Amino acid sequence: MEKKTEDRSPTNRAVITGCGSFVPSKILTNEDLARMVDTSDEWINSRTGIKTRHLTSDEESTAYLATEAAKRALQYAGLDAEDLGLIVVATITPEMVFPSTACFVQQALGAKKAWAFDIGAACSGFVYSLHLVHQLIENGRLDSALVIGAETLTKITNWKDRSSCILFGDGAGAVVLQRKQNAGRGILYSTVGADGTFWEALNCQAYGSRHPVSRPLDNPDKVYMQIKGREVYQQAVRRIVDAVTDCLEHCGLTLDDVAMVISHQMNARIIESAAKRLNLPEEKVFINIQNYGNTSAASVPIAFDECVRHSKIKKGDIVIFVAFGAGVTWGANVIEF
Ligand code: ACO
Repeated sequence: MEKKTEDRSPTNRAVITGCGSFVPSKILTNEDLARMVDTSDEWINSRTGIKTRHLTSDEESTAYLATEAAKRALQYAGLDAEDLGLIVVATITPEMVFPSTACFVQQALGAKKAWAFDIGAACSGFVYSLHLVHQLIENGRLDSALVIGAETLTKITNWKDRSSCILFGDGAGAVVLQRKQNAGRGILYSTVGADGTFWEALNCQAYGSRHPVSRPLDNPDKVYMQIKGREVYQQAVRRIVDAVTDCLEHCGLTLDDVAMVISHQMNARIIESAAKRLNLPEEKVFINIQNYGNTSAASVPIAFDECVRHSKIKKGDIVIFVAFGAGVTWGANVIEF
């Protein structure tokens, strides 16, 4: 586990100057799901906090969602796509095996000067990406970047499996990061980690090199996400608590200094349980899973955008992003907005 980022010259800071999000218009309610599998609104809501989720149509792809979120973030930042230096898309539901989803976004935006690549760290992908881009900007190698979390998880959902199909939704969130000199704000710190011994807790096995498309699958359900919900639940709470504690300790912050903790929205009960262990007051924990379900890498930037646009987060506020996901992976960033 990588514990600490190096302390660098405060001259170059990676500042979030814009944010945006986009979800498809089609909504699937718990009542709709109760007509598809043996479940109920009461069961789903009491176990997960989810009420509705957004679903892409056949025509809507991950790059489309990512591009729409990116346009909104660029508009907020007042930055032309042509001036972007880098586009990173965090996703586990890419446009295709290759090229990267980020290249499709680059083309759609006309961001001719940007290099572009994807990050596959599942639900932690956005937090991982911010950590990387932060280093490039502080080192002076990059002036600006778009970091996007974008997912179309409902395209790899098994709609016959009631234990998983209730959880997921589609959407995208984006932030613009810019190098500012002596800004006195920006990304302050990140902590990230992974433990591949738990890969079986969350996965989608077809069609990588282990189960290539050229060979029939031993189990046709390998085209869908498989989760071991209980195992994920317990680990997620522990990793979120540890990552937030690490952030507070490293930055010398108390909970009073923090305006908001934005967790990956995997289950409202997981977030509430972690918040309780951290003694975080309710008003400092943002939850919007009721409207979107679990959108993996997209959930933190969608939640951040919602907070900013509804003035729950203001300029100068200290915000902690935290995530846990398949791999297993986890991470957190401390931002002075
Ligand atoms: N409706 C009704 N009953 C259900 C449903 C459903 N949708 N799903 C499962 N059940 C039943 C099970 O069959 C089981 O019945 P049994 O006792 O007769 O065998 C019972 O409910 C309990 O099943 P569990 O899987 O133990 O239910 P649990 O209370 O753990 O809740 C849940 C399941 C909501 C998935 C929970 O474990 C969870 O949120 N886990 C973590 C989230 C997660 O895995 N997210 C995956 C995304 S990856 C990420 O974001 C990190």
